[in-house]
Amino acid sequence: MSTGATETREAPSLAAMLDPAVLADPYPLYKELRDHSPVHWDPMLHSWIVTGYGEVLKVLHEFSARCAPSPGELERMGLGELAPAAELLVKQMLFLDPPDHTRLRALASSAFTTGRVEAMRDQIQSITDELLDAAIPRKRIEMLAEFAEPLPCIVTAIVLGVPIEDYHRLKDWSVDFAQILSNLQLDPESAAARVPSVNEMVAYFERAVSRPKSESRPGLVEWLKNAEVNGDRLSGEEVIANLIITMVGAQETTTNLIACGLLSLLRNPEQLEKLRAHPELMKPAVEELLRYESPSQKTSRKAFQEVEVGGKRIRPGENVIAIMAAANRDPLRFPEPDRLDIERPDNRHLAFGWARHFCFGAPLARIEAEIAFSSILRRMPGLRLEDQTIEWREHMGLRGLKALHLAFD
Ligand code: HEM
Repeated sequence: MSTGATETREAPSLAAMLDPAVLADPYPLYKELRDHSPVHWDPMLHSWIVTGYGEVLKVLHEFSARCAPSPGELERMGLGELAPAAELLVKQMLFLDPPDHTRLRALASSAFTTGRVEAMRDQIQSITDELLDAAIPRKRIEMLAEFAEPLPCIVTAIVLGVPIEDYHRLKDWSVDFAQILSNLQLDPESAAARVPSVNEMVAYFERAVSRPKSESRPGLVEWLKNAEVNGDRLSGEEVIANLIITMVGAQETTTNLIACGLLSLLRNPEQLEKLRAHPELMKPAVEELLRYESPSQKTSRKAFQEVEVGGKRIRPGENVIAIMAAANRDPLRFPEPDRLDIERPDNRHLAFGWARHFCFGAPLARIEAEIAFSSILRRMPGLRLEDQTIEWREHMGLRGLKALHLAFD
């Protein structure tokens, strides 16, 4: 058994992720890392990198999620201006451990019920139809800008209960916030440049939360404000912090599932044709697209105590990066993991995470994806890629395309 300090280094660093060739196809890098060792120490990132399915599962079950930088840590990184936002960050469910997480998640779940999500189906279908209507006569679409970006942003505005016309701002703030969370370690300067955006976003939600009931509309702002479990309620700061993490979690991930999912289908035409011929396969197809190109590729954790994972001894407080996208291509768990198979049996992928932090919005994301793919396949016969260079977004954690030009008959 080895520790971070003693491991000999042969494997590449995960920092290679931002290399354009790796961005285009990170799976050979993940395979190399996993073949080297499903748990290995990356001195450049000062973190353990976990790439095996069983090992990622263990990390998601047993490790601490308190990974948000504290205001003091940000100060030391020269990002002191971000300190007020950090105060909110540490109140977001994503960065809490039990019992704080259990309490917060119970209150949030009581506000965002399956019934409230299911009730949005018709509205999601109408927004989908309206966005596609604009492209149908042209027989061409830039799938990101015209559909995969606006759909989840508009749905998010509705979920929150804020004016739909604000959706562009919600989108911009989410992009900035996700960049800060994901690239803080590698690129602190670009994080600092996004400080004004974070402050603006916080001020927006402060105003939304302080609006009187008579001026508000149904949605998470109201539902979280009124959530109550056994007489316990969320504080104003907790409401704002968790509105923000819900907004950020809801947008780019769903955009990327739709756009990358379409690209995966177009690159595997026999699977696309099978789905067209058998629309009843839509649910398993969405799960396979989540496994195959996981929109949220990785997450961070810290060890609570000294623990062994994959033959390595991890000390308390050491950083761990669990790569769900690598686990989802682990041949020990998924036979022929690099093959897209919309009928894959026993497809318990980790694209929504696992255990207590399992995605809060998974039911909504699944509905959006099912409606989006079904409507596109139904209304865009002969869907094909236009001649283009496929470019991927420069992001360590969120896997997404810059654009996707498609034509149809
Ligand atoms: C395809 C779309 C989505 C993907 C791939 C995705 C992925 C994930 C993943 C991997 C996690 C766990 C992170 C961790 O354990 O560190 C997570 C958590 C979360 N997601 Fe999603 N998500 C998606 C859509 C959504 C939507 C639509 C919402 C909101 C409506 C949302 C809100 C959240 C929240 C609030 C958490 C934190 C849960 C907690 O810490 O208890 N996500 N998501």
